[in-house]
Amino acid sequence: MNSIEVKKGIYWVGSVDWNVRDFHGYTTSRGSSYNAYLIVDEKIALIDSVKHGFRQDMLAKIAEHVDPSKIDYVISNHTEPDHSGELLAVMQQAPQSQLIASAKGEKGLRQYYPGDYPCRVVKTGDTLNLGRYELSFINTPMLHWPDSMFTYLASEKLLFSMDAFGQHLASNQRFDVDVDFDILMHEAKTYYANIIMHLGSIVAKTLKAASELAIETVCPSHGVIWTKHLPDIISRYQDWCAFKPAGKVLVIYDSMWHSTEMMAEQIVAGATEEGVQAQLIRLPNHDLTNVVTEILDADAVVVGSPTLNNGMMPTVAAFLTYIKGLKPAKKIGFAFGSHGWSGGGAAQVGQEMEATGIEIVREPIVCQYRPDQAVLDQCLSAGKELAQHAKSC
Ligand code: FEO
Repeated sequence: MNSIEVKKGIYWVGSVDWNVRDFHGYTTSRGSSYNAYLIVDEKIALIDSVKHGFRQDMLAKIAEHVDPSKIDYVISNHTEPDHSGELLAVMQQAPQSQLIASAKGEKGLRQYYPGDYPCRVVKTGDTLNLGRYELSFINTPMLHWPDSMFTYLASEKLLFSMDAFGQHLASNQRFDVDVDFDILMHEAKTYYANIIMHLGSIVAKTLKAASELAIETVCPSHGVIWTKHLPDIISRYQDWCAFKPAGKVLVIYDSMWHSTEMMAEQIVAGATEEGVQAQLIRLPNHDLTNVVTEILDADAVVVGSPTLNNGMMPTVAAFLTYIKGLKPAKKIGFAFGSHGWSGGGAAQVGQEMEATGIEIVREPIVCQYRPDQAVLDQCLSAGKELAQHAKSC
């Protein structure tokens, strides 16, 4: 696949990773891309690089337009190795080149890639003149690493947004208009939920700051470039960072001998009777990446586990550990589960749910061995209450 011209003299020179399916625990079921951008002006600049292993692919694309040894500036918008993995290799080919990074970026890059290379530290408002084009920089700390920054090209109304607005989506197309809209938005939502969800207040602040800039094109570091659908993704980001609910109840559980499952089914039945969207998710049959995507806009999340050795099932523990770091906000829920001769599983689930930020609205619903009719009625009624909450949001 060749490079693609984004604007006059500005090229996508990244790599498509068609077959990656695990991105530090995130299941990338449609692959990904590592987007590097080359600006050919009086001075030559490369914005970010690619993951280690894709060097030759990127250099070949750069060589379609300029000898890689002529690069003057290597701009690092984000230190994470999927974008910095080949920065040093580029600078070694272009010994006169200078690294441009935020202060935290320089520190992190020197730790990842020790070496005596020149670096100019930039902060919000600083500029870099390339000739025809003048770039400016905007620090966006913790979106999603301390080093993160945007690079902005005002004359072209173009923002290089690193991970923000990214999607793990492998495609031979580079622009939003050329891929299926629903798949694009689904992958953007999955990316937001699994990478950015816990940073909602920072995203809101960044969107507000970005609204003061003229922007027509956003070039993220993963997936396709936003042009026509830019207003759509900005609107979705506004909804996602506010945790705008979709009127949805999720019943997430594991089960040993179907007792906890019977309870889960009754909770879903109660929510369904009230006419809201409800989903039954047995953890071993679902990928956590997709479960988290569903959680982003859920109103209620209930979690069930039978008791195993006085505690919750390891599948449920892994799920709760994952979502604790992602801090889902504006959700209510409770724990439930069966036990044998002694309990403890559901109570432990409740404690861990509270630690994730889910508002616990009732004590755990529990049963011994098999749920009797009274317990099933309690689950049905609890499902209705969750649905009523969802309808009121
Ligand atoms: Fe795509 Fe945070 O790296």
